[in-house]
Amino acid sequence: MQRDKPYKVKSFNLHGLQGISDRTLEMHFSLYEGYVKAANALTNDIGEFLKDGRVDQEEMPAYSELTRRLGFEYNGMVLHEYYFGNLTKEAAAKPPSDSAFLRAAEESFGSYDRWKTDFVSVGKMRGVGWAICWQHPAGGRLSNQWTTLHEHGNVAGFIPILIMDVWEHAFLLDYPPSKRGDYIEAFFTNIDWKAVDRRLTGEQARQAQAA
Ligand SMILES: [Fe+2]
Repeated sequence: MQRDKPYKVKSFNLHGLQGISDRTLEMHFSLYEGYVKAANALTNDIGEFLKDGRVDQEEMPAYSELTRRLGFEYNGMVLHEYYFGNLTKEAAAKPPSDSAFLRAAEESFGSYDRWKTDFVSVGKMRGVGWAICWQHPAGGRLSNQWTTLHEHGNVAGFIPILIMDVWEHAFLLDYPPSKRGDYIEAFFTNIDWKAVDRRLTGEQARQAQAA
């Protein structure tokens, strides 16, 4: 496998969502594309520094600054892919009764409704960032947490299960800034619960099916 190829922009067929307009999605796809391009450009520019050997000799501010930006651009790329990947126009309002995610939410929070209250509350936190439901791969417990920008607050080694973009660009064309809660409710009417289930660890999915 060749590991030095540029990242490619992924496409998502999401036209016709409820409460999230096609206009918002088109703008959002182009923003995502910008992160892919920026991640590739940074990787390429850092590679140029490595070619000439200068970074072996001394700490170089220009190299350091490029490297510092990787977390923003890479997470901006990847989190958007998770976000678009957990949306569908053929959504159900709640996870189905045989869903592995439903079982995991009940086991981690006591009930799905309590899990949802927590996730929505994370999404309403002031600031620019993401609400993310993580799974601890050891044991399968879920935890809803806030990520500032794209790179501050991601939990090393945990698996992102459900990702909600709450940067204002995700909803400003459809809702005023004071109505972030309406956007969050719209987000919930478009969740692809099958995609969410696929992200759970194999162990968790097996437990849910066996029970
Ligand atoms: Fe976004």
